[in-house]
Amino acid sequence: MFGTGVVAAAPHDMAHSSRPRRPTGALSGTHDMAMAPSLDVPTGTPLPHVAPYSLRARLLTPLADGGTRYEPDALLEVAEDGTIARVERWDDTLSRPAVVDIRPMVLLPGLVDLHIHLPQVPAAGLGAGMDLLAWLERHVFPRERAFRAPVAEAQMPLVLRALAAVGTTSILAYAATWADSTDAAFRAAEAHGIRATIGAVLMDRTSYDDTTPVTERLDRGLRDSAELADRWDGAADGRLRYAVTPRFAVSCTADLLRESAALARERGVIWQTHVSEDAREIETVAALFPGARDYLDVYERAGGLGPRSVLAHAIHLTQRELAQVVDTGTAIAHCPASNLFLRSGVMPLRRYLDAGVVMGLGSDVAGGPELSVFAQMRVGAYAASARSALTGDARPPLDPLGMLRVATLGGARALGMAHTIGSLEPGKEADLIAVDPRPTLPPVGEDTDDPAELLGRLVFRERAGMVRGAWVRGRLLPV
Ligand code: GUN
Ligand code: ZN
Repeated sequence: MFGTGVVAAAPHDMAHSSRPRRPTGALSGTHDMAMAPSLDVPTGTPLPHVAPYSLRARLLTPLADGGTRYEPDALLEVAEDGTIARVERWDDTLSRPAVVDIRPMVLLPGLVDLHIHLPQVPAAGLGAGMDLLAWLERHVFPRERAFRAPVAEAQMPLVLRALAAVGTTSILAYAATWADSTDAAFRAAEAHGIRATIGAVLMDRTSYDDTTPVTERLDRGLRDSAELADRWDGAADGRLRYAVTPRFAVSCTADLLRESAALARERGVIWQTHVSEDAREIETVAALFPGARDYLDVYERAGGLGPRSVLAHAIHLTQRELAQVVDTGTAIAHCPASNLFLRSGVMPLRRYLDAGVVMGLGSDVAGGPELSVFAQMRVGAYAASARSALTGDARPPLDPLGMLRVATLGGARALGMAHTIGSLEPGKEADLIAVDPRPTLPPVGEDTDDPAELLGRLVFRERAGMVRGAWVRGRLLPV
């Protein structure tokens, strides 16, 4: 490894490698696999912690204006202020004395997890196939009720390091309904270095808050949200942001939805909630809001749609709802692993993207069992393939490069940060990851310089430890 104590642990699942093993030692790192000579990397090379620095590596990124850039041998220069100063093809004739050469690693934009529940991480993997509303009662609400400041202080550093270890550099997250633990979550993100937009969950109808009288929940929630936004929105030079976070229409009154949307608008912050995830949820909302045309209309009437709104799931939208999402520029956090884990359904991904939906990927932990956005790309691709096979849709499913675009630029756009992050282009902030493709190689066969194939390996053969470094604004994140 790189001897920094900060980069991700070495892969541990290389037991099937048929290549001869090399002894481990100072120069061989802790990877116990041997590899073709062309893949040798000068191990023991520390990854740079703080800007400025230059990296020599392979580089793969979607481009803001469309298309993908792949450089098998690139120079990426990070300026002292943490922005990307230069991205170019490596040129042997130029002398670059201070370059850190990490080939054959691949630099990618840092991944955006557009939907995650921080208090739910301990429940990840529990309750497969359960009905959403029953699962919330059984696995989620008890944990969120217990997520007070001391619990958050103990758990958050571990959660943030685990996110960085799988290449996530930005999150849009739900805390619990408590201001104290939301505050603790922000403090942990401030210390860790991850880019985070977080909100305290608002619920004034069904709630696990059995200490605040029902009639006071709305006012108290809005007051807490406003105070948290005062303290944290724009903190750490804009790395931390606040999101006004009504849970979903099942647990919120029309008043709360309307007033929370007004608060988000007034502060210019994200408004996030869930929509159209599960059949029984949709029926419940129809019964609670008999005057609404459909589920989305509940949020529309509240003034909750627009380019600063992020709706999770949205897998069962009607044609009218889809058109309204597109017309208002409302973003969707697509959480394919959660949708399969909770047996919610499969998004018609192609239809949504072709319609022009702004979309990023979300782990939705603990609705989804895995923190990794690579896993969302993989499961999303499998789910889309299954759907197109079953429905006879002739359009090709999204390829890995298309999925990477959703996972990076798509999420950045949903956060209103596409000018700042989401791709490796000069002038943007250096939110990036270094991924080692060697653990993803099959036991026989070769590395590839075809970008779709290379990325396909990282997505479909993701291995623990393959992300060797993750930086936000050029600063290496602890893992
Ligand atoms: N809908 C309302 N709350 C939640 C939640 O915590 N997880 C998921 N997956 N859906 C929700
Ligand atoms: Zn969720």
